[in-house]
Parts: sequence; structure tokens; C-alpha cells
Amino acid sequence: MKSSPPEVRILANAAAAVPLLLDEVRTLLTSSKSPLLGFATGGTFTAFLQALGHELGAGRIPAAGNLLATHLDEYLGYAPDQKGGMVHELGSACPHLLAMLAKGTFFPVPHDDAPASLRAHEQRLQRAGGVQLQFLGIGRNGHLAFNEPGTPFDSGFHGTTLAETTREDARARFRPAEPPTRAVTSGIATILAAKRLVLCAFGKAKAPAVAAMLQGPVAPTCPASVVRTHGNVLVLLDREAASLLQSGLVGA
Ligand code: F6R
Repeated sequence: MKSSPPEVRILANAAAAVPLLLDEVRTLLTSSKSPLLGFATGGTFTAFLQALGHELGAGRIPAAGNLLATHLDEYLGYAPDQKGGMVHELGSACPHLLAMLAKGTFFPVPHDDAPASLRAHEQRLQRAGGVQLQFLGIGRNGHLAFNEPGTPFDSGFHGTTLAETTREDARARFRPAEPPTRAVTSGIATILAAKRLVLCAFGKAKAPAVAAMLQGPVAPTCPASVVRTHGNVLVLLDREAASLLQSGLVGA
């Protein structure tokens, strides 16, 4: 059976994605009994996370008390309160998530890659009904979460070595220290198990990866290309990220 290709929307700019992402959260909360949202980290989502923090603070997200949340990946050795880590980043942009962490409704990705920790995390997500809505960014090398090129599509949560471009892009965040070399990441199979995927890419540096994702082969050389096999995917791009797409060729 052929699944529907991703819906691709090209926006005037990155800021235009924020209300659409907030609407995705509102729809999740009104349509799911176990609304588990998977956040992505990185610059792509900072404006959205800050806006979500404001909306939650102002009580403008109905049923927000039911929200369950998790995220995609964590640097090895970075505990939730450690600067540079993903949970720290999420909590800085949207402090509500730290309150959820304290309450046990935010499930942090383990910062160690012991098989028992990874298994326990996967099981916890399953017990919560699985991720219903997963936000995703894309690396300029086509990575999805920290599934770097070459990662098999059947992977679950695992420890991984970061690609050089990934470390380079993280350099500013860790300066003057060197960026980490290892992380724990959600696997491609885990990501595909989410009910709905919403992937955002903004800026010129992402254009080659976006073209490979949507119009190149579906293969581990571009991990993000796997989203074309999912069937319930929204891709939000600004004009620069979409600039290398050939029109009319987005297919499953
Ligand atoms: C981080 C993650 C990565 C980023 C990607 C884009 O949790 O999953 O795949 O989404 O590296 O990062 P930014 O948004 O900083 O360009």
C-alpha cells in the first residue's frame, strides 16, 4: 500500500511556523487521551518553545495539564540540569517543561547509553501510549535526531558518535570546551512509530539536506528521507530551505 507523501508547506519565513506548531500542540491536546509530545531541540525550535512557554503561562493552551512530553536525544553525560544538554535547553526556552520534569510528566532521554537505561526509557514511552506528535529538525548532513548518515532504519534508542558537521554546528554552544563526541538518540524506528511527524527546516544551510530528504533516494545516506515512508508527515520550510527543491517532485 502506498502511503501519502509528506505535506510540504513553504512559508514566508521561519516565524510563520510558530502559530502552526502551536496549533499542532492544541490539536494533540484536544484529540488524544494520552497526548505525548516529542520535542526536538536546536535553533529551529527555539522561537516556538518560547512562544509555547508564553501560551502556557497565559493559560491559552486548553487541557495543558494533560500534556506528556519527551524529546529526541541527549549528549552523553549531560544530566537534565547541566548547561549544554538538551533538557537544559528545553527548560531554558520553556520553563513549564521543568515543572513537568519535576512532576514526572516530562520523560528525559537518558544521558547514559547503558542498554537497561535505554530499554527503560522506551518502555516508559510505550506505557504512556507512545509518542503521538513528534517534532523534528534536520541536520545539514540529513541527520534525523542524532541518527547520522549510515544509521539503519530499524534502530531503536541507541548511543551514537556524532558526525563532524554535527559537532561543528554544536561548537558555539559548548565554547570554550570542545563539543561532545557521543550522544543518546531516539532511533529511526522509534521516530517512525510516532503517530504524526512535523519536521521543520529553515535557512539556506539546510537546502541540500531538504532536497535529499524529499527528492533523493529513501536511504540511510540521508536518514531524514525515511519520513517519506511514514504517511502522516507535515514539513514546514522557509523559502531558503526550500530553494533547491524541484517543483512537483515531492513523492512518497
Ligand atoms: C536535536 C536534533 C537534531 C536537530 C538538527 C537541527 O534534538 O534532533 O536533529 O534537530 O541538528 O538542529 P538546528 O535546529 O539547531 O539547526
